Amino acid sequence: MVTSIGFEPRVVDLRDRTKVHLRPIAPQDEPLLHEAVAAMSERTVYFRFFSPIKRMSDALAHRLAVVDYNDRFALVATHKAASKERIVGVARYDRARATDVAEVAVAVIDEFQRRGLGSVLLAELARVARDHGIKTFQLIVLPENREMLALLRKLGWIHQAKVVGGVYEISFDIPETA
Ligand SMILES: CC(C)(COP(=O)(O)OP(=O)(O)OC[C@H]1O[C@@H](n2cnc3c(N)ncnc32)[C@H](O)[C@@H]1OP(=O)(O)O)[C@@H](O)C(=O)NCCC(=O)NCCS
Repeated sequence: MVTSIGFEPRVVDLRDRTKVHLRPIAPQDEPLLHEAVAAMSERTVYFRFFSPIKRMSDALAHRLAVVDYNDRFALVATHKAASKERIVGVARYDRARATDVAEVAVAVIDEFQRRGLGSVLLAELARVARDHGIKTFQLIVLPENREMLALLRKLGWIHQAKVVGGVYEISFDIPETA
């Protein structure tokens, strides 16, 4: 039985024992999304948005923060220090209209990369997606994005990827054990 949101917020210990809080995104996260993008290097922004944006438009931040928790879902990882909450990672899917296929995107702010957070976010997102009837994930990854390609290989989600029109178009069925 899937609840309307389908994700129970919880605390996760990263590899270095930093604690982050995982929860579904909420409309009031818009300003935190702007701050998260501001905390990303140009490289991270480019790999996530395929464009060297310095600041997202308010319209984009709104579209990313306001989801329906079924066809469009996003999980955020937050970290609190000195009573200030920050979004340190986001993973999302967008279902292709009336199908069981969804496009996925993930980003972790540079300071929190390489601590296992990207893996946690994608694995949790896969579980949520499966609970919402999604069977296949699709991703677009730039060929020079070795971090993401290595992450997908580590999760066992891709064994090979082919470049189409200058980008990797990756498609795979969500594993039962995700
Ligand atoms: C890709 C990304 C989400 C990975 O997040 P992360 O939290 O650093 O990932 P993890 O710590 O879970 O890393 C998992 C594995 O991925 C691989 N990996 C991650 N970063 C890597 C790097 N810089 N170099 C080589 N391998 C890397 C490793 O195999 C790693 O496992 P290990 O640390 O045990 O060796 C992050 O680098 C990012 O936000 N990149 C920019 C946005 C992006 O590229 N999004 C994808 C397209 S939408």
